[in-house]
Amino acid sequence: MGNIILTGDRPTGRLHVGHFVGSLRNRVTLQNSGKFEKLFFMIADAQALTDNFDHPQKVRDNILEVALDYLSCGIDPAKSTILVQSHVSELTELTFYYMNLVTLARLERNPTVKAEIQLRGFNHSIPMGFLTYPVSQTADITAFMADTVPVGEDQLPMLEQIVRRFNELYGETLVEPTALLPDNEACLRLPGTDGKAKMSKSLGNCIYLADDPDDVRTKVMGMYTDPNHLQVSDPGNTKDNPVFLYLDAFCTDEHFARYLPDYANLDELKAHYERGGLGDVKVKKFLNNVLQETLEPIRTRRQELAKDPAAVMEILRKGSYAAQAEAAKTLDKVKHAMKIDYFA
Ligand code: TRP
Repeated sequence: MGNIILTGDRPTGRLHVGHFVGSLRNRVTLQNSGKFEKLFFMIADAQALTDNFDHPQKVRDNILEVALDYLSCGIDPAKSTILVQSHVSELTELTFYYMNLVTLARLERNPTVKAEIQLRGFNHSIPMGFLTYPVSQTADITAFMADTVPVGEDQLPMLEQIVRRFNELYGETLVEPTALLPDNEACLRLPGTDGKAKMSKSLGNCIYLADDPDDVRTKVMGMYTDPNHLQVSDPGNTKDNPVFLYLDAFCTDEHFARYLPDYANLDELKAHYERGGLGDVKVKKFLNNVLQETLEPIRTRRQELAKDPAAVMEILRKGSYAAQAEAAKTLDKVKHAMKIDYFA
């Protein structure tokens, strides 16, 4: 159990610290654990185009950016396959066959899709491609026979439905994967620096992996905290305070030993803040130290890799080629099961 993993990102912008704690960091751990036979990390450009079909240049430009983010975080092409979705055409073909197995009503009811339709203001003119992206996501996962998917639980029902229906109708062919949920809750939803629930480029509330040290510092020192914590002596709230939520996701006891030895760990720091007598500036300076230490090696590696974009593109080309060979095997099985292998 648990030997093939697939996950990915839409290339619509550079990746930020939310991606890092929510998934990138964990992917590298999984990759280096030796527990996985194969790992596939996909730059989901075809999916990005479902709501950016009018911005092809943006998607194109971000292929390299996302690849740089992956590599600089430690995704290693010698251990993992990095692929570009549009260059594995088998994924599109699988999507077409899977579309027979789900109803329009079911897609429209999908909570994630529903929320995203609202967010994008599609209202009643929803592009078909966008509406069906959960189907294409099922193709991505099943194409590589992945048995582990680190996704939100909300996407799982669609995947299960399609896989079960396929196997029921055409015989046991596809693997039904299980979701891998992160062990640290705080990492699932890192808020924006402004306290808004999500980090988003348009809100300007993200800390990017590629940000330089001054940018990181400025963003941290300007972070939203508890609005009722006006005086240092006031008791403060750490529960929905982004500065503490970031610390939950990033800091370790060693960071305290290095940068804030008056406290042994985050619980002690939180207790002081809640009691009153601890100023925001002190906490933010600590968070800045923690983030700088975490991001520095990533940034350095990124700058190094960015000097040779052709080499990075070559990694993607090779990865996509290798991934295509895998997906072709699945497509053959699918076509055989569906009795469309006339010339075999
Ligand atoms: N939906 C993911 C994102 O928004 C990208 C993605 C596409 C994906 N296909 C996937 C993730 C399959 C996990 C599994 O970034």
